Amino acid sequence: MTEKKFELVDRATGKKSELPVRSGTLGPAVVDISNLYKEHGVFTYDPGFVATASTESKITYIDGDAGILLYRGYPIEQLAEKSTFMEVAYLLLHGELPTRKQLDEFTSNIRYHTMINETLLRFFNGFHHNAHPMAMVSAVVASMSAFYHDTMDIHNPRHREIFAHRIIAKIPTIAAAAHKHSVGQPFVYPRNDLDYCSNMLHMFFAVPCEPYQVDPIAAKALDLLFILHADHEQNASTSTVRLAGSTGANPYAAISAGVSALWGPAHGGANEAVLNMLEQIGTVDNIPKYLAMVKDKSSHFRLMGFGHRVYKNFDPRAKIIREMCHKVLARLGRSDNPLFELALRLEEIALKDEYFISRKLYPNVDFYSGIIYSAIGIPRSMFTVMFAIARTVGWVAHWQEMISDPTMRIGRPRQLYTGPARRDYVDLSKRG
Ligand code: CMC
Repeated sequence: MTEKKFELVDRATGKKSELPVRSGTLGPAVVDISNLYKEHGVFTYDPGFVATASTESKITYIDGDAGILLYRGYPIEQLAEKSTFMEVAYLLLHGELPTRKQLDEFTSNIRYHTMINETLLRFFNGFHHNAHPMAMVSAVVASMSAFYHDTMDIHNPRHREIFAHRIIAKIPTIAAAAHKHSVGQPFVYPRNDLDYCSNMLHMFFAVPCEPYQVDPIAAKALDLLFILHADHEQNASTSTVRLAGSTGANPYAAISAGVSALWGPAHGGANEAVLNMLEQIGTVDNIPKYLAMVKDKSSHFRLMGFGHRVYKNFDPRAKIIREMCHKVLARLGRSDNPLFELALRLEEIALKDEYFISRKLYPNVDFYSGIIYSAIGIPRSMFTVMFAIARTVGWVAHWQEMISDPTMRIGRPRQLYTGPARRDYVDLSKRG
């Protein structure tokens, strides 16, 4: 789809060349620089990938200036209102909304794979009780590659499909096992008569000594949060999965790399950090003091859950979650949630502040999600694990898209070397 050319002039040599410009369906066009080094002997330099499209993709589109998010073309608002997480998972993986028959088949495939190998369960005993659940989930997901290695041919579409079903089905079981290990309760086996999110709540909160009834409001809220977190194009963790996967590595190992990348507070770890921050701020009266800290760069204090590399407008997911907070807290009888009140005031004050206005910093998906997770009883250290469960679908969709592309190559960025030039080794006895 080459339409325009981008003219490049090397002023030192006077050499001119034309770089192809490629346009997608939506969004800015890209200058194809893949032959730049071959023809001009230079690399491009873009630390943080601010202006670099690392791949072509058909899965998710974001317009950060307009605050638009589309999964396979469908607006996130419509999916949040009308769809379910299982339907969205099918959409992201297959490109189209499923028919009733396709959805039933997909859902029963996922249900079929919910149990994890009993030996895998024993891995948890190797962790201290206060190990962060993201560390346990990342390690146990990586360990799955040991169970499914010889039987996994990444070039076989059927093997790839089984991998997709397995990891999407098993990650809530692994997450729940990590939670049970942290609280010292026995592991609870999955119940395949329950839907995806109800089963997850059951594995988290049921105990053998008394019956447990899943709260449908909690299950619905979780389903909606999972829809909102399911994919977000080439974010840090998805790019990590793609990079690890591009080497031909076992896909469970690639997903584990994604879990690790998600953990950081600049990415998925922000949901946990937001609640810590709100507690630290404490009351509305303290907001000005913390906003002053934000402006003092030496404090290294940031408003967690604010700002985004791509959104320079409201994150559409944050708007949906804020609305959802009102409804969920009211329906759970917790409308007077002081942290939610504080978050609302903090948003209001920050959005009128010149610092945030000039930098186009708005609340992101993580600003309000922790308040809902807390309200449904998920412990704070598990918030990022919740994000990982939902994002597994996106990671798998991107891995599939990459591996099934016949032009795929190993991801291998270059660098601007600024270390010492060539020098000779000095014997130990002769060093100062
Ligand atoms: N609080 C205060 N100042 C901020 C914030 C914030 N949350 N975010 C950005 N800034 C400032 C930053 O200091 C810089 O100011 P200046 O130009 O004076 O140096 C300017 O805004 C641009 O920031 P940046 O760090 O260059 O922007 P980035 O695109 O590299 O970083 C970000 C994006 C999300 C890492 C960053 O906004 C941030 O650290 N936010 C807080 C953590 C967070 O909420 N992360 C979740 C992101 S959404 C979900 C996800 O991806 O998982």
